[in-house]
Amino acid sequence: MAKKIKTTKKTKKASKPWSGRFTEATNELVEEFTASIPYDWRLYSYDIAGSIAHATMLAKTGIISQKESRQIISGLKDIHKEIAAGELSLSLELEDIHMNIEDRLIRKVGPVGGKLHTARSRNDQVALDLRMYLRDEIMEISELLKSFQRVIVGLADRHQDVVMPGYTHLQRAQPVLFGHHLLAYYEMFERDRQRLADCFGRVNVMPLGAGALAGTVLPIDRKFVAGLLGFSAVSENSMDAVSDRDFAIEFIAACSQIMVHLSRLSEELVIWSTAEFGFITLSDAFTTGSSIMPQKKNPDAAELGRGKAGRVFGNLTALLTIMKGLPLSYNRDMQEDKEPVFDTADTVISTLAVFIEMLKVMRVNRDAMRRAAEDGFITATDLADYLVRKGLPFRRAHEVVGRAVLRAGELKCGLMDMPLEEYRKLSSLIKEDVFDALSVEASVGRRTSYGGTAPANLKKRLQQLKKLIG
Ligand code: ARG
Repeated sequence: MAKKIKTTKKTKKASKPWSGRFTEATNELVEEFTASIPYDWRLYSYDIAGSIAHATMLAKTGIISQKESRQIISGLKDIHKEIAAGELSLSLELEDIHMNIEDRLIRKVGPVGGKLHTARSRNDQVALDLRMYLRDEIMEISELLKSFQRVIVGLADRHQDVVMPGYTHLQRAQPVLFGHHLLAYYEMFERDRQRLADCFGRVNVMPLGAGALAGTVLPIDRKFVAGLLGFSAVSENSMDAVSDRDFAIEFIAACSQIMVHLSRLSEELVIWSTAEFGFITLSDAFTTGSSIMPQKKNPDAAELGRGKAGRVFGNLTALLTIMKGLPLSYNRDMQEDKEPVFDTADTVISTLAVFIEMLKVMRVNRDAMRRAAEDGFITATDLADYLVRKGLPFRRAHEVVGRAVLRAGELKCGLMDMPLEEYRKLSSLIKEDVFDALSVEASVGRRTSYGGTAPANLKKRLQQLKKLIG
Protein backbone atom coordinates (compact mmCIF):
# COMPACT_ATOMS: atom_id res chain seq x y z
CA MET A 1 0.00 0.00 0.00
CA ALA A 2 1.27 3.48 -0.85
CA LYS A 3 2.38 5.39 2.22
CA LYS A 4 1.64 8.79 0.72
CA ILE A 5 -1.46 10.05 -0.94
CA LYS A 6 -2.30 13.28 -2.74
CA THR A 7 -4.71 15.64 -1.04
CA THR A 8 -6.13 18.66 -2.76
CA LYS A 9 -7.17 21.85 -1.07
CA LYS A 10 -10.07 22.68 -3.31
CA THR A 11 -12.36 20.30 -5.07
CA LYS A 12 -15.22 21.36 -7.29
CA LYS A 13 -17.09 22.95 -4.38
CA ALA A 14 -17.10 20.07 -2.02
CA SER A 15 -19.99 20.69 0.26
CA LYS A 16 -19.64 19.55 3.83
CA PRO A 17 -22.21 17.07 5.05
CA TRP A 18 -22.73 19.20 8.13
CA SER A 19 -23.04 22.54 6.28
CA GLY A 20 -26.80 22.97 6.90
CA ARG A 21 -26.69 25.16 9.99
CA PHE A 22 -23.78 27.35 8.81
CA THR A 23 -24.00 30.62 6.98
CA GLU A 24 -20.29 31.33 6.68
CA ALA A 25 -17.60 29.27 5.01
CA THR A 26 -14.91 27.67 7.17
CA ASN A 27 -11.82 29.79 7.53
CA GLU A 28 -9.08 28.36 5.34
CA LEU A 29 -6.63 28.15 8.20
CA VAL A 30 -9.17 26.26 10.25
CA GLU A 31 -9.81 23.96 7.35
CA GLU A 32 -6.16 22.96 7.26
CA PHE A 33 -5.84 22.96 11.02
CA THR A 34 -8.72 20.57 11.57
CA ALA A 35 -8.23 18.21 8.65
CA SER A 36 -7.00 14.71 9.35
CA ILE A 37 -7.12 13.44 5.77
CA PRO A 38 -3.36 13.92 5.21
CA TYR A 39 -2.84 10.94 7.53
CA ASP A 40 -6.14 9.20 8.19
CA TRP A 41 -6.48 8.22 4.50
CA ARG A 42 -4.57 5.16 5.66
CA LEU A 43 -7.77 3.92 7.28
CA TYR A 44 -9.64 3.81 3.99
CA SER A 45 -9.84 0.05 3.57
CA TYR A 46 -11.13 -0.38 7.13
CA ASP A 47 -13.57 2.48 6.68
CA ILE A 48 -14.96 0.87 3.54
CA ALA A 49 -15.12 -2.63 5.06
CA GLY A 50 -16.93 -1.16 8.07
CA SER A 51 -19.35 0.71 5.81
CA ILE A 52 -20.09 -2.39 3.77
CA ALA A 53 -20.92 -4.32 6.96
CA HIS A 54 -23.06 -1.41 8.16
CA ALA A 55 -24.97 -1.20 4.87
CA THR A 56 -25.51 -4.97 4.94
CA MET A 57 -26.98 -4.68 8.43
CA LEU A 58 -29.16 -1.71 7.49
CA ALA A 59 -30.78 -3.85 4.79
CA LYS A 60 -31.06 -6.95 6.98
CA THR A 61 -32.94 -4.97 9.63
CA GLY A 62 -35.13 -3.30 7.00
CA ILE A 63 -33.82 0.19 7.75
CA ILE A 64 -32.93 0.52 4.06
CA SER A 65 -33.97 -1.71 1.17
CA GLN A 66 -31.85 -4.54 -0.22
CA LYS A 67 -31.58 -2.69 -3.49
CA GLU A 68 -30.30 0.46 -1.80
CA SER A 69 -27.82 -1.58 0.18
CA ARG A 70 -26.54 -3.26 -2.99
CA GLN A 71 -26.09 0.10 -4.71
CA ILE A 72 -24.19 1.50 -1.75
CA ILE A 73 -21.98 -1.56 -1.42
CA SER A 74 -21.08 -1.66 -5.09
CA GLY A 75 -20.24 2.06 -4.95
CA LEU A 76 -18.03 1.48 -1.92
CA LYS A 77 -16.19 -1.34 -3.67
CA ASP A 78 -15.46 0.92 -6.62
CA ILE A 79 -14.21 3.64 -4.30
CA HIS A 80 -11.87 1.16 -2.69
CA LYS A 81 -10.38 0.42 -6.11
CA GLU A 82 -10.09 4.12 -6.91
CA ILE A 83 -8.24 4.93 -3.71
CA ALA A 84 -5.97 1.89 -3.96
CA ALA A 85 -5.03 2.95 -7.48
CA GLY A 86 -4.38 6.52 -6.31
CA GLU A 87 -7.10 7.77 -8.64
CA LEU A 88 -9.30 9.54 -6.12
CA SER A 89 -8.08 12.95 -5.06
CA LEU A 90 -8.92 13.39 -1.42
CA SER A 91 -9.97 16.81 -0.29
CA LEU A 92 -8.91 18.78 2.78
CA GLU A 93 -12.27 20.53 2.78
CA LEU A 94 -13.85 17.18 3.51
CA GLU A 95 -11.75 16.90 6.65
CA ASP A 96 -11.20 13.22 6.96
CA ILE A 97 -11.34 9.86 5.22
CA HIS A 98 -14.89 9.20 6.39
CA MET A 99 -16.36 12.31 4.79
CA ASN A 100 -14.24 11.95 1.68
CA ILE A 101 -15.55 8.46 1.08
CA GLU A 102 -19.14 9.42 1.83
CA ASP A 103 -18.94 12.42 -0.49
CA ARG A 104 -17.51 10.26 -3.26
CA LEU A 105 -20.23 7.67 -2.71
CA ILE A 106 -23.02 10.20 -3.07
CA ARG A 107 -21.42 11.60 -6.21
CA LYS A 108 -21.15 8.10 -7.55
CA VAL A 109 -24.46 6.42 -6.69
CA GLY A 110 -26.63 9.49 -6.12
CA PRO A 111 -28.79 10.43 -3.11
CA VAL A 112 -29.11 6.79 -2.03
CA GLY A 113 -25.47 7.08 -0.91
CA GLY A 114 -26.73 9.49 1.72
CA LYS A 115 -28.50 6.58 3.42
CA LEU A 116 -25.23 4.93 4.44
CA HIS A 117 -24.74 7.21 7.40
CA THR A 118 -28.10 6.19 8.92
CA ALA A 119 -27.76 5.12 12.56
CA ARG A 120 -24.08 5.96 12.56
CA SER A 121 -21.80 8.84 13.49
CA ARG A 122 -18.21 9.56 12.61
CA ASN A 123 -17.52 9.10 16.31
CA ASP A 124 -18.32 5.40 16.35
CA GLN A 125 -17.05 5.07 12.77
CA VAL A 126 -13.56 6.32 13.56
CA ALA A 127 -13.36 4.16 16.68
CA LEU A 128 -14.26 1.18 14.51
CA ASP A 129 -11.67 2.00 11.86
CA LEU A 130 -8.90 2.45 14.39
CA ARG A 131 -9.72 -0.82 16.10
CA MET A 132 -9.73 -2.67 12.76
CA TYR A 133 -6.44 -1.07 11.78
CA LEU A 134 -4.87 -2.01 15.12
CA ARG A 135 -5.98 -5.62 14.86
CA ASP A 136 -3.96 -5.95 11.64
CA GLU A 137 -0.94 -4.11 12.98
CA ILE A 138 -0.91 -6.22 16.16
CA MET A 139 -0.99 -9.36 14.06
CA GLU A 140 1.81 -8.16 11.82
CA ILE A 141 4.03 -7.12 14.73
CA SER A 142 3.36 -10.41 16.46
CA GLU A 143 4.41 -12.33 13.36
CA LEU A 144 7.59 -10.26 13.04
CA LEU A 145 8.42 -10.89 16.69
CA LYS A 146 8.01 -14.60 16.07
CA SER A 147 10.33 -14.47 13.05
CA PHE A 148 12.85 -12.59 15.15
CA GLN A 149 12.61 -15.20 17.89
CA ARG A 150 13.29 -17.85 15.25
CA VAL A 151 16.44 -16.00 14.15
CA ILE A 152 17.56 -15.75 17.78
CA VAL A 153 17.01 -19.45 18.37
CA GLY A 154 18.90 -20.30 15.15
CA LEU A 155 21.83 -18.13 16.16
CA ALA A 156 21.95 -19.67 19.64
CA ASP A 157 21.69 -23.14 18.13
CA ARG A 158 24.59 -22.60 15.73
CA HIS A 159 26.81 -21.24 18.53
CA GLN A 160 25.94 -23.57 21.37
CA ASP A 161 29.55 -24.00 22.49
CA VAL A 162 30.53 -20.31 22.43
CA VAL A 163 31.42 -18.89 25.83
CA MET A 164 31.54 -15.21 26.66
CA PRO A 165 31.80 -13.13 29.78
CA GLY A 166 28.45 -12.41 31.37
CA TYR A 167 28.31 -8.86 32.72
CA THR A 168 26.82 -6.96 35.59
CA HIS A 169 27.49 -3.21 35.77
CA LEU A 170 29.13 -3.83 32.37
CA GLN A 171 31.99 -5.42 34.33
CA ARG A 172 32.92 -9.03 33.64
CA ALA A 173 31.01 -11.11 36.14
CA GLN A 174 30.74 -14.83 35.36
CA PRO A 175 31.23 -16.80 32.15
CA VAL A 176 28.05 -17.66 30.28
CA LEU A 177 27.17 -19.31 27.02
CA PHE A 178 26.52 -16.87 24.20
CA GLY A 179 23.39 -18.89 23.41
CA HIS A 180 22.14 -18.40 26.93
CA HIS A 181 22.64 -14.65 26.61
CA LEU A 182 20.70 -14.67 23.33
CA LEU A 183 17.83 -16.72 24.72
CA ALA A 184 17.31 -14.06 27.38
CA TYR A 185 16.03 -11.95 24.47
CA TYR A 186 13.85 -14.81 23.30
CA GLU A 187 12.07 -14.66 26.65
CA MET A 188 11.65 -10.88 26.49
CA PHE A 189 10.11 -11.04 23.03
CA GLU A 190 7.88 -13.89 24.15
CA ARG A 191 6.41 -11.69 26.87
CA ASP A 192 6.06 -8.90 24.31
CA ARG A 193 3.98 -11.21 22.15
CA GLN A 194 1.84 -12.15 25.12
CA ARG A 195 1.27 -8.48 25.89
CA LEU A 196 0.17 -7.86 22.29
CA ALA A 197 -2.15 -10.86 22.37
CA ASP A 198 -3.69 -9.58 25.57
CA CYS A 199 -4.10 -6.12 24.08
CA PHE A 200 -5.70 -7.67 20.98
CA GLY A 201 -8.54 -8.99 23.12
CA ARG A 202 -9.45 -5.50 24.24
CA VAL A 203 -8.97 -3.97 20.78
CA ASN A 204 -11.27 -6.57 19.26
CA VAL A 205 -14.51 -5.06 20.60
CA MET A 206 -16.98 -3.54 18.15
CA PRO A 207 -17.98 0.10 18.81
CA LEU A 208 -20.24 0.76 15.78
CA GLY A 209 -23.82 1.47 16.74
CA ALA A 210 -22.83 3.73 19.62
CA GLY A 211 -23.81 6.57 17.30
CA ALA A 212 -22.52 10.00 18.30
CA LEU A 213 -22.57 9.01 21.98
CA ALA A 214 -25.99 7.80 23.09
CA GLY A 215 -26.89 4.94 20.76
CA THR A 216 -29.67 5.12 18.16
CA VAL A 217 -33.46 4.99 17.95
CA LEU A 218 -33.26 2.73 14.90
CA PRO A 219 -33.53 -1.08 15.18
CA ILE A 220 -29.89 -1.88 14.37
CA ASP A 221 -28.20 -5.24 14.92
CA ARG A 222 -24.78 -4.65 16.38
CA LYS A 223 -23.96 -8.32 16.93
CA PHE A 224 -24.56 -8.99 13.25
CA VAL A 225 -22.08 -6.25 12.27
CA ALA A 226 -19.56 -7.57 14.79
CA GLY A 227 -19.89 -11.03 13.25
CA LEU A 228 -19.36 -9.70 9.73
CA LEU A 229 -16.24 -7.84 10.79
CA GLY A 230 -14.77 -10.60 12.94
CA PHE A 231 -15.14 -8.87 16.29
CA SER A 232 -15.51 -11.12 19.29
CA ALA A 233 -17.56 -8.68 21.35
CA VAL A 234 -19.74 -5.58 21.11
CA SER A 235 -19.05 -2.57 23.33
CA GLU A 236 -21.41 -2.40 26.32
CA ASN A 237 -21.63 1.35 26.73
CA SER A 238 -22.09 3.78 23.85
CA MET A 239 -20.30 6.64 25.62
CA ASP A 240 -17.30 4.49 26.45
CA ALA A 241 -17.27 3.17 22.88
CA VAL A 242 -16.80 6.60 21.30
CA SER A 243 -14.71 8.27 23.94
CA ASP A 244 -11.96 6.02 25.17
CA ARG A 245 -8.69 5.33 23.45
CA ASP A 246 -7.24 3.11 26.15
CA PHE A 247 -6.90 0.32 23.59
CA ALA A 248 -4.63 2.53 21.50
CA ILE A 249 -2.64 3.63 24.54
CA GLU A 250 -2.23 0.02 25.50
CA PHE A 251 -1.00 -0.80 22.02
CA ILE A 252 1.64 1.94 22.17
CA ALA A 253 2.62 0.82 25.68
CA ALA A 254 3.10 -2.77 24.47
CA CYS A 255 5.14 -1.42 21.55
CA SER A 256 7.19 0.74 23.90
CA GLN A 257 8.16 -2.37 25.81
CA ILE A 258 9.19 -4.06 22.55
CA MET A 259 11.31 -1.02 21.76
CA VAL A 260 12.93 -1.14 25.22
CA HIS A 261 14.00 -4.69 24.47
CA LEU A 262 15.18 -3.88 20.96
CA SER A 263 17.03 -0.87 22.27
CA ARG A 264 18.91 -2.90 24.87
CA LEU A 265 19.86 -5.40 22.19
CA SER A 266 20.93 -2.50 19.95
CA GLU A 267 23.18 -1.21 22.69
CA GLU A 268 24.80 -4.63 23.04
CA LEU A 269 25.33 -4.91 19.29
CA VAL A 270 26.93 -1.47 19.26
CA ILE A 271 29.27 -2.38 22.13
CA TRP A 272 30.04 -5.87 20.85
CA SER A 273 30.99 -4.57 17.42
CA THR A 274 33.61 -2.11 18.73
CA ALA A 275 37.32 -2.85 18.24
CA GLU A 276 37.54 -2.97 22.05
CA PHE A 277 35.11 -5.90 22.27
CA GLY A 278 35.18 -7.41 18.79
CA PHE A 279 32.59 -10.03 19.79
CA ILE A 280 30.59 -9.69 16.59
CA THR A 281 31.00 -8.32 13.10
CA LEU A 282 27.97 -6.69 11.55
CA SER A 283 27.63 -7.22 7.83
CA ASP A 284 28.59 -4.33 5.53
CA ALA A 285 24.99 -4.37 4.37
CA PHE A 286 23.82 -3.31 7.83
CA THR A 287 26.44 -0.66 8.58
CA THR A 288 27.34 2.66 7.02
CA GLY A 289 30.50 4.66 6.41
CA SER A 290 31.69 8.07 7.46
CA SER A 291 31.79 11.04 5.12
CA ILE A 292 35.20 12.06 6.47
CA MET A 293 36.90 9.05 8.09
CA PRO A 294 37.50 6.48 5.37
CA GLN A 295 38.19 3.61 7.78
CA LYS A 296 34.87 3.88 9.60
CA LYS A 297 32.17 1.24 9.59
CA ASN A 298 29.40 2.38 11.84
CA PRO A 299 26.56 0.31 13.33
CA ASP A 300 23.94 2.90 12.34
CA ALA A 301 21.07 0.46 11.96
CA ALA A 302 21.63 -0.83 15.49
CA GLU A 303 21.98 2.73 16.79
CA LEU A 304 18.71 3.74 15.16
CA GLY A 305 17.03 0.74 16.76
CA ARG A 306 18.07 2.34 20.04
CA GLY A 307 17.16 5.86 18.97
CA LYS A 308 13.75 5.01 17.57
CA ALA A 309 12.71 3.70 20.98
CA GLY A 310 12.64 7.37 21.99
CA ARG A 311 10.00 8.33 19.44
CA VAL A 312 7.75 5.45 20.44
CA PHE A 313 7.94 6.46 24.11
CA GLY A 314 7.16 10.00 22.95
CA ASN A 315 4.06 8.70 21.16
CA LEU A 316 2.91 7.03 24.36
CA THR A 317 3.33 10.22 26.34
CA ALA A 318 1.56 12.17 23.60
CA LEU A 319 -1.55 10.00 23.62
CA LEU A 320 -1.72 9.76 27.41
CA THR A 321 -1.53 13.54 27.58
CA ILE A 322 -4.12 14.05 24.85
CA MET A 323 -6.61 11.88 26.73
CA LYS A 324 -6.04 12.85 30.33
CA GLY A 325 -8.22 15.94 30.57
CA LEU A 326 -11.07 15.05 28.23
CA PRO A 327 -14.62 15.05 29.55
CA LEU A 328 -16.85 12.30 28.17
CA SER A 329 -17.56 11.60 25.44
CA TYR A 330 -15.98 12.38 22.04
CA ASN A 331 -13.77 15.47 21.75
CA ARG A 332 -11.95 16.58 18.64
CA ASP A 333 -8.66 16.37 20.53
CA MET A 334 -8.97 12.65 19.94
CA GLN A 335 -8.22 13.07 16.26
CA GLU A 336 -4.63 13.56 17.44
CA ASP A 337 -4.51 9.86 18.36
CA LYS A 338 -3.81 8.71 14.84
CA GLU A 339 -0.33 10.02 14.11
CA PRO A 340 1.23 8.60 17.30
CA VAL A 341 -0.52 5.28 16.68
CA PHE A 342 0.53 5.06 13.02
CA ASP A 343 4.07 6.19 13.78
CA THR A 344 4.38 3.59 16.52
CA ALA A 345 3.25 0.73 14.31
CA ASP A 346 5.47 1.87 11.42
CA THR A 347 8.50 2.27 13.67
CA VAL A 348 8.17 -1.09 15.39
CA ILE A 349 7.55 -2.89 12.10
CA SER A 350 10.53 -1.34 10.32
CA THR A 351 12.86 -1.83 13.28
CA LEU A 352 11.93 -5.49 13.60
CA ALA A 353 12.25 -6.04 9.86
CA VAL A 354 15.81 -4.63 9.90
CA PHE A 355 16.85 -6.51 13.02
CA ILE A 356 15.63 -9.84 11.68
CA GLU A 357 17.85 -9.50 8.60
CA MET A 358 20.78 -7.94 10.48
CA LEU A 359 21.01 -10.80 12.95
CA LYS A 360 20.67 -13.42 10.23
CA VAL A 361 23.97 -12.30 8.71
CA MET A 362 25.78 -11.14 11.84
CA ARG A 363 29.16 -12.87 12.36
CA VAL A 364 30.00 -14.18 15.80
CA ASN A 365 33.69 -13.98 16.74
CA ARG A 366 33.91 -16.93 19.06
CA ASP A 367 37.64 -16.54 19.77
CA ALA A 368 37.29 -12.94 20.93
CA MET A 369 34.41 -13.92 23.19
CA ARG A 370 36.38 -16.85 24.54
CA ARG A 371 39.47 -14.69 25.21
CA ALA A 372 37.38 -12.18 27.12
CA ALA A 373 35.82 -15.02 29.10
CA GLU A 374 39.30 -16.25 30.08
CA ASP A 375 39.74 -13.10 32.18
CA GLY A 376 41.82 -14.07 35.24
CA PHE A 377 39.18 -13.45 37.88
CA ILE A 378 35.96 -14.34 36.17
CA THR A 379 35.63 -17.66 38.02
CA ALA A 380 36.08 -16.09 41.47
CA THR A 381 32.51 -17.10 42.41
CA ASP A 382 33.39 -20.67 41.44
CA LEU A 383 36.29 -20.57 43.88
CA ALA A 384 33.92 -19.43 46.62
CA ASP A 385 31.48 -22.21 45.68
CA TYR A 386 34.41 -24.67 45.84
CA LEU A 387 35.05 -23.61 49.43
CA VAL A 388 31.34 -23.84 50.20
CA ARG A 389 31.37 -27.43 48.95
CA LYS A 390 34.23 -28.04 51.42
CA GLY A 391 32.01 -26.82 54.24
CA LEU A 392 32.93 -23.12 54.58
CA PRO A 393 30.01 -20.70 55.06
CA PHE A 394 29.55 -18.62 51.90
CA ARG A 395 30.32 -15.30 53.60
CA ARG A 396 33.69 -16.67 54.83
CA ALA A 397 34.41 -18.14 51.43
CA HIS A 398 33.69 -14.77 49.82
CA GLU A 399 36.29 -13.17 52.07
CA VAL A 400 38.94 -15.80 51.33
CA VAL A 401 38.41 -15.43 47.60
CA GLY A 402 38.56 -11.66 47.89
CA ARG A 403 42.01 -12.05 49.40
CA ALA A 404 42.96 -14.56 46.71
CA VAL A 405 42.02 -12.01 44.03
CA LEU A 406 44.09 -9.37 45.82
CA ARG A 407 47.09 -11.70 46.05
CA ALA A 408 46.80 -12.79 42.42
CA GLY A 409 46.70 -9.13 41.47
CA GLU A 410 49.97 -8.56 43.34
CA LEU A 411 51.51 -11.56 41.62
CA LYS A 412 50.15 -10.33 38.29
CA CYS A 413 48.46 -13.60 37.48
CA GLY A 414 44.93 -14.94 37.20
CA LEU A 415 43.27 -17.26 39.72
CA MET A 416 43.94 -20.18 37.41
CA ASP A 417 47.71 -19.52 37.39
CA MET A 418 48.27 -18.74 41.06
CA PRO A 419 50.45 -21.46 42.68
CA LEU A 420 48.77 -23.85 45.11
CA GLU A 421 51.00 -22.76 48.01
CA GLU A 422 49.59 -19.24 47.74
CA TYR A 423 46.06 -20.70 48.05
CA ARG A 424 47.17 -22.83 51.02
CA LYS A 425 48.22 -19.66 52.85
CA LEU A 426 44.64 -18.39 52.52
CA SER A 427 42.79 -21.58 53.43
CA SER A 428 43.80 -25.11 54.32
CA LEU A 429 40.63 -26.33 52.61
CA ILE A 430 42.07 -25.57 49.19
CA LYS A 431 43.62 -28.63 47.50
CA GLU A 432 45.06 -29.45 44.08
CA ASP A 433 41.54 -30.09 42.73
CA VAL A 434 40.81 -26.35 43.01
CA PHE A 435 42.11 -25.87 39.49
CA ASP A 436 39.37 -28.10 38.12
CA ALA A 437 36.83 -25.68 39.57
CA LEU A 438 38.47 -22.61 38.11
CA SER A 439 38.22 -23.28 34.39
CA VAL A 440 35.62 -21.50 32.27
CA GLU A 441 34.22 -24.88 31.18
CA ALA A 442 33.77 -26.02 34.75
CA SER A 443 32.17 -22.73 35.71
CA VAL A 444 29.61 -22.85 32.91
CA GLY A 445 29.16 -26.63 33.04
CA ARG A 446 28.26 -26.65 36.72
CA ARG A 447 25.53 -24.04 36.48
CA THR A 448 22.87 -26.64 36.01
CA SER A 449 20.26 -25.06 38.29
CA TYR A 450 16.96 -24.63 36.43
CA GLY A 451 17.36 -21.70 34.04
CA GLY A 452 21.14 -21.57 34.54
CA THR A 453 23.72 -21.26 31.76
CA ALA A 454 24.98 -24.91 31.68
CA PRO A 455 25.35 -26.39 28.15
CA ALA A 456 22.94 -29.20 29.08
CA ASN A 457 20.28 -26.62 29.97
CA LEU A 458 20.84 -24.66 26.77
CA LYS A 459 20.59 -27.78 24.68
CA LYS A 460 17.34 -28.80 26.31
CA ARG A 461 15.81 -25.34 26.02
CA LEU A 462 16.81 -25.09 22.36
CA GLN A 463 15.15 -28.43 21.66
CA GLN A 464 11.94 -27.18 23.26
CA LEU A 465 12.03 -23.87 21.42
CA LYS A 466 12.76 -25.39 18.03
CA LYS A 467 9.66 -27.53 18.47
CA LEU A 468 7.66 -24.57 19.69
CA ILE A 469 8.41 -22.09 16.93
CA GLY A 470 9.75 -24.34 14.16
N1 ARG B 1 -11.58 12.94 11.96
C1 ARG B 1 -12.24 12.69 13.23
C2 ARG B 1 -11.28 11.95 14.15
O1 ARG B 1 -10.33 11.44 13.66
C3 ARG B 1 -13.45 11.83 13.02
C4 ARG B 1 -14.52 12.04 14.02
C5 ARG B 1 -15.08 13.39 13.87
N2 ARG B 1 -16.17 13.60 14.73
C6 ARG B 1 -16.65 14.81 15.01
N3 ARG B 1 -17.62 14.89 15.82
N4 ARG B 1 -16.09 15.89 14.50
O2 ARG B 1 -11.47 11.90 15.34
